[in-house]
Formats: sequence, structure tokens, C-alpha cells
Amino acid sequence: MLRGKNIIIGICGGIAAYKTPQLVRLLKKEGANVKVVLTEGGARFVSELALATVSQEPVYRAIFPSSGTTDFTHHISLGEWADALLIAPATANSLGRLAAGLCDDMLAACFLTLRPGKPVLIFPAMDGQMYLSASVQRNIATLAGQGCTIIPPESGELASGQCGLGRMPEPEAILSHLQQSLRSEERHSPLHGRSVLVTAGPTREKIDGVRFISNYSSGKMGFAIARAAAKRGALVTLITGPVHLETPPGVTRIDVESAADMHAAAEEVFSSCNVFIAAAAVADYRPRAPYEGKIKKEDAEMQLALVRNPDILAEFSKQRSPKQLAVGFALETREGVECARQKLEAKQLDLIAFNYFDGKNSGFEVDTNILTLIDRHGETLELPKLTKDEAAEQLLDAIERLTPVNAGNA
Ligand code: CTP
Repeated sequence: MLRGKNIIIGICGGIAAYKTPQLVRLLKKEGANVKVVLTEGGARFVSELALATVSQEPVYRAIFPSSGTTDFTHHISLGEWADALLIAPATANSLGRLAAGLCDDMLAACFLTLRPGKPVLIFPAMDGQMYLSASVQRNIATLAGQGCTIIPPESGELASGQCGLGRMPEPEAILSHLQQSLRSEERHSPLHGRSVLVTAGPTREKIDGVRFISNYSSGKMGFAIARAAAKRGALVTLITGPVHLETPPGVTRIDVESAADMHAAAEEVFSSCNVFIAAAAVADYRPRAPYEGKIKKEDAEMQLALVRNPDILAEFSKQRSPKQLAVGFALETREGVECARQKLEAKQLDLIAFNYFDGKNSGFEVDTNILTLIDRHGETLELPKLTKDEAAEQLLDAIERLTPVNAGNA
């Protein structure tokens, strides 16, 4: 359930903070990517070094970048990265600041920049009287009203030596609250339980037994989409050309080589998928008659006859039912949005991602991408430069906005 999920743990200044390295370890063991945000108070109770060691990530504290950094916006990107924000322990002070909408430390910034709908789990832990005070209860009610899940403290021995309400639940209990919350979040995604077909990577078109025509596609964008869809609870089939990438957790992968192989594999899934996202850079042409052995060089020039490959996306679009969504990419260098719009029309798609190609910040092999999403109603969403994982989340958000009217079986 937690495999591949991005979790932020916000740790505030309460004695229960001493349990948090154990919590980080539990989440890591479950396969989550964990980043820790430590408030000034939190740092008085638990060591940054311990948290960095168990999370295998730097611990985030200052909202202002330190001198020498080149990342000036991590107070924004960190919150955007997260699939869930866990605040444990949450002090009266932090509850007040979050409820008031302040943005004076890294935890508050993450809280404000978390993507809409992502779960926030708050574990208040403090003295019992303090917890029951009108101010704290008002702040808790405000946060609950904004959609945060507040897990009340447990009763037991407190730091004051007294027994009563105020203890933070044990790390194992916090883990199971998080799992439960992510499970119900998945159920809320219109893609939950839907079958999503993704094509990715390049294809190889055989010239002879040792040579082929291909392109520079790394498959990273398609794999990011498959990963993001699986995280939303979709049943994902990923058909990929030759790439050097790990299969995302929970994804069924089919490896193919040529456009014809990709077409044949995709056709098997066409009728059962709810959404087809064509992210592969399929070769448009293949050698007409690939040579069995190895072609020997002879003349100064050589002619290679090429024939058109089937357009997998267009084929799908032609034969799909109205309930199935067809999503494509258009990699363009110039006048891109207009070309992408024409492709959306020509292939009768629901959504197209115009992928601006500059070879540096977007396109093949790099880890970032600049997309403009255009849907069948003409809605256009120009995205900034994002990591491919972030771009995939945005693409799926756009697909989800189109999904309700298409809900139902393929
Ligand atoms: N596509 C496909 N099968 C093909 C070719 C393309 O499924 N044989 C899909 C790609 O995965 C992508 C979209 O169609 O989603 C790209 O459309 P296309 O018009 O083929 O793009 P280019 O070949 O880049 O365009 P151009 O005609 O401008 O060269």
C-alpha cells in the first residue's frame, strides 16, 4: 500500500518526537519515500542526524534557502511532492499556526502547498488540559473542517508524571492510520479500480539482424504515468519498448520491441481498458523488408525502403466505445500548441499533452518536462517545467476531470 508513496513527516516540539525515528523506519520498511520536516521545537527533542540517517534524506528545517543553494523554491516543491502529510507529534503551537494559515516555517509551507485532496493526518500530543483547552479545540475543529484527519491523543503516562489524555499513539498505530487514509483516498480517485493502458519508450524497427531504426525516448514519462496511475489504485498495463527502467510497483509490464509488437500487445488490451495513454515514441516507419542476416556494405550509397507503421493510438480511438478515454502526446518544436490541437482533432482524442521539445528541460532522456494539456473541450492548461512524476500527476488530474462523464465499464 505504501510502496512508492511520497510521505512527509512533520515533527513538532513535543517529547513524543523521540519516537519519530522509529516511525520513519517503519514507513521506509513499507517501501515509502519519506522526507522529514522538523520544526525548531522538534529539533530540541530529536536529532536531525538520526532522522536524516533513517530517512536517507536531508531533513528540511529552514524555509529560506541557505547560501549557496540553487533550489530557491523547495518550500513549494516539497509539499507538491507529497502523497500525504503526517504531523506527529503536533503541538498546540503548530496547530494554531496551521489553523491560522501562517507560513512561517517549512512545515506550514508544506501544509499550504500540498496538492488538493492529499491526506493530512495530524496527531496532537501535549498535556491533557492543554489539549482540551478551548483554543486548541477550536484550532482542531478548523483543521478538521478543512479536511485534515485529526487523530486524538491516547491516555497514559505523560511527561509531567501525571496520567491522562495527551500521549501520541505508537508508531505502529500511526502507520496503520496512514494506510487506512491512503486506502480511502485511492477509493476517491475516479481511476481507482479502472484499467489504464500506457505505452512507453521507443520502438526498434529492424533493418537487419544487427541493426535497427529507433529514437532517443527513455520511457521515463510513460513510466511516471504508469507509476502515478497505480498509486491512484488503477489497474495498469504498461507496454514498453526497450528501456532501462524499473517496473513501477503494482504495474503489469509487457516488453516489446517493434511498433508492430506494440500494436499487437495493445490490441489485446484495447477492449478492456478504460483509459489508453499513448506515451510511447512509436517509429512512424519501418524497413519494408528487414534482412535476415547482416547487410554487407557495398556501394557508396544505400537505399532503404520504409513503410508506415500502424498508428496505435488512432486505431484505438477509431474502435473504442464512448466510455473509453484516449490520451496522446504530441512532441513538437515549433507552433506546438496548434499542431497538438490538430492531432487531438485528427485522432479524435479526449486529451493531448503537447510536449515542448528543447532537448534540455523537456523531451527525451531528461527528468523534467514542459507540457501543455489540451482537452476535447478546448480547455488548455499550460504547465511549468516539472519533474516527469509531477507532470504525470497533472496529466492524471486532467484525465480524472474528464472521467466522471465516461465512468462505467469499457
Ligand atoms: N502514436 C502511436 N502509434 C504510432 C505513432 C504515434 O500510438 N504509430 C501515438 C504516440 O504515442 C503519441 C501520438 O500518437 O501519443 C503522437 O502522434 P504522431 O502524430 O504520430 O506524432 P509524431 O510522429 O511525433 O508526429 P509528426 O506526424 O508530426 O511527425
